[in-house]
Amino acid sequence: MEPIIKVSNLTAKFDSTTILSNINIEIFPKQITVILGKSGCGKTTLLKNILKLYTPSAGTVEMFGQDITKMDEESLETILQKIGMLFQNGALLNSLDIYNNIRIPLEQHTNLPDEVIDRMISAKLKLVGLENAEKMLPSELSGGMKKRAALARAMILDPNILFCDEPSAGLDPVTSANLDKLLLKLKKQLNMTLVIVTHELASIHRIADHIIFLENGKVGFSGKLAAVMQSNNSDIKNFFASGKF
Ligand SMILES: Nc1ncnc2c1ncn2[C@@H]1O[C@H](COP(=O)(O)OP(=O)(O)OP(=O)(O)O)[C@@H](O)[C@H]1O
Ligand SMILES: [Mg+2]
Repeated sequence: MEPIIKVSNLTAKFDSTTILSNINIEIFPKQITVILGKSGCGKTTLLKNILKLYTPSAGTVEMFGQDITKMDEESLETILQKIGMLFQNGALLNSLDIYNNIRIPLEQHTNLPDEVIDRMISAKLKLVGLENAEKMLPSELSGGMKKRAALARAMILDPNILFCDEPSAGLDPVTSANLDKLLLKLKKQLNMTLVIVTHELASIHRIADHIIFLENGKVGFSGKLAAVMQSNNSDIKNFFASGKF
């Protein structure tokens, strides 16, 4: 199987501090890849470098077989339209209601008529179980509802690949399990490829096909969920035994 994303020798720095060095990763289509690692190890930095929100100091990122690191803006835009991103903090605009928050990517990337936009937004809100929240402001939603609203926005253009940075952090176990069901549904019914950063052990067991563990700026382990149990890496063993690093 060909990877849908291939990261080769990626190095990420902030000023003179190296956060990630020589990262090699392959993400396979229609799978859920979980990125795991201690707080501050560079998971969010990795996602932002892959999406070119930050420019890598070195290395290449191929998406759909094309190197995006040297791509012109227009071609990059075409590729990035096939990608959704759920940011770690949700990043909803507080002054806009949920309908208008979800409308933003449609305004930016399409010229669709209002009635089509309305139908798309309703469908996505239904998918995340927020059909009655269109007129609500982010401040009027619970933490779990905010996450689901941000997820609806990340999915509004029906991306082939969806990145989620800690989607279930801070959610109660039931809400978190429901969110996992939704992510599995996206994979199975919509054939989406998902890349998910999470620390939630229960969630990892429910959704992960493939695990990538970041440690000291490198890939410490990459393999199937079943193989992770056989790893000799003490941090990984510890994490899978206790759910904590
Ligand atoms: N914009 C930035 N400017 C400077 N340093 C940054 C910036 N963003 C992140 N860093 C640093 O890069 C390192 C990795 O941060 P990152 O947010 O990628 O970690 P993380 O693995 O996502 O952590 P967490 O699990 O807490 O979300 C940290 O040392 C952080 O201080
Ligand atoms: Mg992070």
